Amino acid sequence: MLQDTLSSEALMQLEDQYGAKNYHPLPVVLSKGEGVFLWDAEGKKYFDFLAAYSAVNQGHCHPRIVNALVEQAHKLTLTSRAFFNDVLGPYEKFITEYFGYDRVLPMNTGVEGGETAVKVCRKWAYEVKGIPTNQAKIIFVTGNFWGRTLAAISSSTSSKSTKNFGPYMPGYEIIPYNDIDALHDALQDPHVAGFMVEPIQGEAGVVVPDEDYLPKAYELCRSHNVLFIADEVQTGIARTGKRLACDHHGFRPDILILGKALSGGVLPVSAVLSSDEIMLTIQPGEHGSTFGGNPLACAVAQEALKVVEDEKLADNAAYLGEIFRERIRKNLVDKSDLVKLVRGKGLLNAVVINEHEDSPTAWNLCLQMAENGLLAKPTHGNIIRFAPPLVITEDQLHSCCDIIERTILSYKE
Ligand SMILES: Cc1ncc(COP(=O)(O)O)c(C=O)c1O
Repeated sequence: MLQDTLSSEALMQLEDQYGAKNYHPLPVVLSKGEGVFLWDAEGKKYFDFLAAYSAVNQGHCHPRIVNALVEQAHKLTLTSRAFFNDVLGPYEKFITEYFGYDRVLPMNTGVEGGETAVKVCRKWAYEVKGIPTNQAKIIFVTGNFWGRTLAAISSSTSSKSTKNFGPYMPGYEIIPYNDIDALHDALQDPHVAGFMVEPIQGEAGVVVPDEDYLPKAYELCRSHNVLFIADEVQTGIARTGKRLACDHHGFRPDILILGKALSGGVLPVSAVLSSDEIMLTIQPGEHGSTFGGNPLACAVAQEALKVVEDEKLADNAAYLGEIFRERIRKNLVDKSDLVKLVRGKGLLNAVVINEHEDSPTAWNLCLQMAENGLLAKPTHGNIIRFAPPLVITEDQLHSCCDIIERTILSYKE
């Protein structure tokens, strides 16, 4: 194979020369993964502390998930939805029962899940709630991230996402995150159809709202006949120590968006789950995707969800997350001027560096951690997200904390 003969340097050079420059990766070229470990092209081994932005919760190349992929790939991969296939129905029964919803609409990427949720919400607004045509509004919050399409960036408050990509999608209102009064005020408008929110803001830097924000927001939405849309693309599938982050608060969103770890990182699979009342407003021909609900994706996603249960990954995330934050607090926040705070839930955590947003420190620390055998990536100049695969063991977590602490405590500008 071509890659086998090339060094990391040569492989990076190829991307530099032939690829669009829409990413700025850490200079590490990965060629193999297993569980919590990754190897680069020269065979150096790393702990993965990003887990492909929480898409690899079940660990790299999980044998059961890869097996499901290979077995299904030998039988049938894609039919399109022009016909039925023998995997979609059983998967739909499985996933709706698993999360307690009436129906699922299968898509591929997380952003398509978000787009689907917005469309379904608008359809419900006109056909059930009775909002006048084209006047439905969806409320978003500052700092949200749900992808890079025009519909997604239209709700963004980051100029990096929006600058020179206008005009933007109408029908959105953006209110401050974690501000229940702002939501209360926004809901006075009878044309509001939905409120879409990440239970913990991942890309914004693992921003955890006040403990009562989400349940209060859900109740407010209920009392105003507004759909609560939870974007659990990053927080879902056991990442925060429960099956869903909303499970910490004991309510079930009206519309649930899942992606990333729904496939264990094996291929793009996303899903939107909801009730009969909401989902059945969509009729044949009004929404879809060539690859959505393909047999390969369905087989993989079903196995990926079973692995999460069988290996008790939510419990592991909850248990190890406490240990991680406790250690970082004791050994870094209390001891190093460089680390301002650690925050998160389960194994979705971030360390905030005591520097301004544009500081190179978080990036330099990530370079140094890579050198020391652990891969993490800054979200913003001064925040490093720490989100390993959930199959990590307690011993491995302690080894990782050793690396993180050693790197930060010995850091020199
Ligand atoms: C909360 C959230 N929603 C949606 C998305 C978009 O997912 P995708 O990149 O698969 O389109 C992301 C990606 O990071 C995300 O974090």
